[in-house]
Amino acid sequence: MASPDEMDFPPRDMAKEQLGKLLFYDKILSGNKNTSCASCHHPLAGTGDGLSLGVGEGGKGLGIMRDTGSGSDAIAERVPRNAPHLFNLGAREFVRVFHDGRVEQDSSAPSGFNTPAGDAFLMGMDHALAAQAAFPPTSNTEMAGQAGENDVADAAAAGDLQQVWSLLTARVMAIEEYRTLFAAAYPDLQVPENVTFTHIANAIGAFEAAAYRADNSPYDRYLQGDNQAMSKSAAEGLKIFTGKGQCASCHSGKFQTDHDFHALGVPQIGPGKGDGFNGHDDYGREQVTGDANDRYRFRTPTLRNVAVTGPWGHDGAYNTLEAMVRHHLNPEQSLNAYDTAQAVLPSRADLDTQDFIVHNDDTSRFNLANSIEINPVALNDNEIKLLLDYLHALTDPNSLDLRHTAPARVPSGLPLAD
Ligand code: HEC
Ligand code: HEC
Repeated sequence: MASPDEMDFPPRDMAKEQLGKLLFYDKILSGNKNTSCASCHHPLAGTGDGLSLGVGEGGKGLGIMRDTGSGSDAIAERVPRNAPHLFNLGAREFVRVFHDGRVEQDSSAPSGFNTPAGDAFLMGMDHALAAQAAFPPTSNTEMAGQAGENDVADAAAAGDLQQVWSLLTARVMAIEEYRTLFAAAYPDLQVPENVTFTHIANAIGAFEAAAYRADNSPYDRYLQGDNQAMSKSAAEGLKIFTGKGQCASCHSGKFQTDHDFHALGVPQIGPGKGDGFNGHDDYGREQVTGDANDRYRFRTPTLRNVAVTGPWGHDGAYNTLEAMVRHHLNPEQSLNAYDTAQAVLPSRADLDTQDFIVHNDDTSRFNLANSIEINPVALNDNEIKLLLDYLHALTDPNSLDLRHTAPARVPSGLPLAD
């Protein structure tokens, strides 16, 4: 195994990154101008939000302090999945993003990507990470707001993604400072009118790829030949990871992922994705393929920086890394013994009543348990501790405080914090 190097990442482009940084933090991309990408992917929360399930448009505050909004701004529902971290997603091998891989590179698609927008997707995206950036602004829950609140939200609710992208592009390009920045980042643009949402998304993708690259962990230095870089117990843990623990059968390669989908029976919490029991279940990869064999399968996540990116699992069901690892060892038992108190969900009476509907339904839980495709592995407490030491050695210390990657202000003049 080798540590990642420059060849694993796209070439840098400072002008695009600078523009992308501002767009990532600018609430101008949300219908009601109250949410930015950073609201849920925060530089002090391991590029996530520290919550099990995200609080979208309307919520106030950051991370675990985030509330569910008030009055007419109150959120309509929780975001149904955990906001993942963004580390290393710019690396070339990440050709699929989202927990269910619904944005993925596909050379046979007209745009080069399979996405929820089908054949109507924007052309010219640099990579899957850039293509992904086109979608949060089209989600009523995450960024657009509710129908009736603004024109972007209306277009999003009507499923008119092209209209969402044109309205937002027009908003951005109405700002003089952005026009100058786009001209610098895209020297081939003849007139500002040629800017499309693709340019916005490619700039955001360039920023994410550069700012959130994280491959300077003790494990990397160990791979580069420094035997002292990882503690002895972490090195023992690595042996269990690749050997007896069978972790590397899915968490393989330089970034510990096979980029494939597996059913692990992680407890289902939150409002769900419209599947199963009263629509509160989440069938994962089946949402994309329509194939019942993919039911409850979710993408194998990269484990780099995993110690600082909790809560864990596609819906943040587990609030300790140890509980997440132990789940793998005996998934069915862990599912049935799941302690719902660990879910990190800002409370609101009507939302709370939805949170464990599926988990508490015997039939749904039985179906989920039946889908599990991972073999139980017997590890003793000491072996688990060594494994956790190894996972901690995957933390790049430069990722702990990413405030230096945030801008001081954004061109729209909208506030950075709530
Ligand atoms: C309201 C919270 C919220 C906001 C705002 C938000 N995201 Fe996310 N993000 C999420 C959640 C939740 C997911 C996982 C959704 C899924 O997989 O179904 C996600 C997934 C992602 C992923 C895929 C990560 C992976 O491992 O595959 C990327 C990249 C990303 N977001 C970037 C962005 C960008 C760029 C923006 C702004 C344009 C943004 N997000 C705005 C919550 C948010
Ligand atoms: C059969 C494939 C497979 C094997 C084997 C496997 N994992 Fe996983 N792992 C996954 C998938 C898929 C997920 C995401 C599950 C979900 O969210 O529903 C995951 C999630 C995780 C997470 C949470 C990551 C996050 O960002 O939330 C950790 C930590 C983890 N695995 C560690 C391990 C360890 C340690 C082992 C070995 C004991 C292991 N895995 C074995 C497929 C696997």
